[in-house]
Amino acid sequence: MPPSDLPALRHALLSWYDAKARALPWRVGPQAHAEGERADPYRVWLSEVMLQQTTTPHAAPYFLAFTARWPTVGDLAAAEDGEVMGAWAGLGYYARARNLLACARAVAREHGGVFPDTEAGLRALPGLGPYTAAAVAAIAFDRPAVVVDGNVERVTARLFAVQQPLPAARPELRRRAGLIASAERPGDWAQATMDLGATVCRPRQPLCEACPVAAFCEGLAGGAPEQLPRKAAKAERPRRYGAAYVALKAGRVALVRRPPTGLLGGMLALPTSAWVGAPLTLADAMAAAPAPAPWRSVGEVEHVFTHFALTLTVLVAEVDGVAEAVDWRAPDLATEGVPTVFRKALEAGLGRLA
Ligand code: ADE
Repeated sequence: MPPSDLPALRHALLSWYDAKARALPWRVGPQAHAEGERADPYRVWLSEVMLQQTTTPHAAPYFLAFTARWPTVGDLAAAEDGEVMGAWAGLGYYARARNLLACARAVAREHGGVFPDTEAGLRALPGLGPYTAAAVAAIAFDRPAVVVDGNVERVTARLFAVQQPLPAARPELRRRAGLIASAERPGDWAQATMDLGATVCRPRQPLCEACPVAAFCEGLAGGAPEQLPRKAAKAERPRRYGAAYVALKAGRVALVRRPPTGLLGGMLALPTSAWVGAPLTLADAMAAAPAPAPWRSVGEVEHVFTHFALTLTVLVAEVDGVAEAVDWRAPDLATEGVPTVFRKALEAGLGRLA
């Protein structure tokens, strides 16, 4: 793309955003922004952390629940760890919730409850990574930070017909994203490129006929924009195996608390065996049970984590007690605040009883 095209490209995308920006609960839309309204850095930060985990429709109810319960970063900083982990349940990757709290507490204690207003200042907060620092700097403070998420990578790869596969292409895509970004409206630009990626420049079936920057798109000119960005073949996720136990006493289910560090650290959970590299035998599963009882297997559930896939054999029994139990829940409340993997196991276990 010749540099002389850049002003027209920026104008086309920002005009589209002015007309078509999605209304999102954390967003100050382009019109209000032009009239001087500024987004609350707390809400921008919280939404960006959630959106690294999931899509906008799935994130929205979590965002609304968090901001209703903890309207300011000081309120969140003062919350109990367990409450926040419970409210995060269902979003996955609980390390993010722990980082969220660490960051909120640093802002509350070390910055008087006010987020730093530069990318570098944000980056220095605990648990706040380079993507989030750039996004908050641009969206909340209109700093000219280059905000690159998966959407922006895809838009950029297509606009410039970058043929090098991900992840090797990442530095080049970042460089080009910086080249085209608007210095006048950094926050709107970041959100415009994300909206374009989410709604028009979609991964599989891009809507090029509705694209405001189709005239500039070298990927479209090449005839197969949907094939970009190319991706290096991925190694298959390893699989682990374990058992999860639905221990019932007087109609209530035993929940335990996971150790504070490691995967799903600090979360409420079903008792489980260790998760190992080969399928468990029933004898292995019995030997790892949290209490002696006539356990019976009711089937398997699957869950995919970032770094591995897990197959859990679900066992159910009436027990006299469970030494590690921290809570005994009625079945209809048993999944509240519990990570999705255990929710699946509980539903499998309780479903078989019904
Ligand atoms: N995805 C991640 N952050 C976003 C934002 N601020 N607007 C739209 N989509 C997003």
